[in-house]
Amino acid sequence: MKVLITGGCGFIGSHVVDAYADKGYEVVIVDNLSTGKLKNKNRNARLYKIDITDDSLKDVFEKERPDIVNHHAAQISVPYSVENPLFDAKVNIEGTIRLLELSRIYGIKKFIFASTGGAIYGETDMIPTSEQCVPEPRSPYAISKLACEKYILFYSYHYGLEFIILRYSNVYGPRQIPHGEAGVVAIFTEKLLSKEHPVLYHYPEEKNGMIRDYVYVRDVARANILASESEKRGIFNISTGIGTDTLKLYKKITKTLKESGVEVDEEFEEPKRAFARPGDLRVSILDPTKAEQELFWRAEYDIDKGIRETLKWYLYGKN
Ligand SMILES: NC(=O)c1ccc[n+]([C@@H]2O[C@H](COP(=O)([O-])OP(=O)(O)OC[C@H]3O[C@@H](n4cnc5c(N)ncnc54)[C@H](O)[C@@H]3O)[C@@H](O)[C@H]2O)c1
Repeated sequence: MKVLITGGCGFIGSHVVDAYADKGYEVVIVDNLSTGKLKNKNRNARLYKIDITDDSLKDVFEKERPDIVNHHAAQISVPYSVENPLFDAKVNIEGTIRLLELSRIYGIKKFIFASTGGAIYGETDMIPTSEQCVPEPRSPYAISKLACEKYILFYSYHYGLEFIILRYSNVYGPRQIPHGEAGVVAIFTEKLLSKEHPVLYHYPEEKNGMIRDYVYVRDVARANILASESEKRGIFNISTGIGTDTLKLYKKITKTLKESGVEVDEEFEEPKRAFARPGDLRVSILDPTKAEQELFWRAEYDIDKGIRETLKWYLYGKN
């Protein structure tokens, strides 16, 4: 079975590539290396350094004839999408439509899409939020992801394309870059290791910061394998269903660093504080029940184990 994965040199995509390669899939990557890194590339995968908005994408389909398309390439920054909505739409919407058209033309068996549960639902009273909640995206990034989902549904209804959409909560783990959709673990860790004082954003009345559902990247990679091998179609939250506030997360990181022998400045025991930026959701916790019941996927890493694994990577080996 051959899979073409876009964004396979990025943070999540590279773990998905590793998981496919470990399972014996033949893996082809399309990545323009705008945020992805060559050192993330699995040595058994073939890389085409191509932009997903470029016409030459067709040549890759023509040459490789993949069975599955797994689409992770994207403009991933929410603030950048606010400043540059046209660029965001070009990469995220136009890029996805191109992939869907090529999937139609080349008879792709299944299309898997990395969507966002962290951003797409907006502020909602349904906590934890299930897939039943009607999305109320509040940023161009979340709007573009929802538009992609709708295009995928169109290709499914109209052309019978098999698909699975995975709405990730806040993904963290080795190889994460600090400026993505949900980079707070990477931001805190990198700042603390370079002896800078991290900032915690909070609403005036909620001093512990925003509450998020942190899911470890290897669990996310496994969800992609199960999605590839499942007979189901549909939209699935990939999350833990458990919320952690930013202060608690900060304390877990400083504690784990100290346990690993890293000196943390006394002044850094508490983070610096700043008011939340417009658009920062107060709470985002996603209900993973549907993925548990239909994909037989459940997060195996709790936040403590996930942070230990992530910090090991920062401290002992960045591969
Ligand atoms: N990080 C999270 O918590 C999170 C949450 C929900 C959804 N997602 C989604 O998961 C996917 C991967 O995110 P990530 O955090 O690994 O980000 P990332 O920036 O590490 O990975 C994105 C990859 O896509 C590549 N890319 C970007 N634009 C491209 C283009 N035009 N053509 C070809 N390649 C391009 C980049 O070089 C990079 O390798 C994205 O679709 C993102 O929206 C991430």
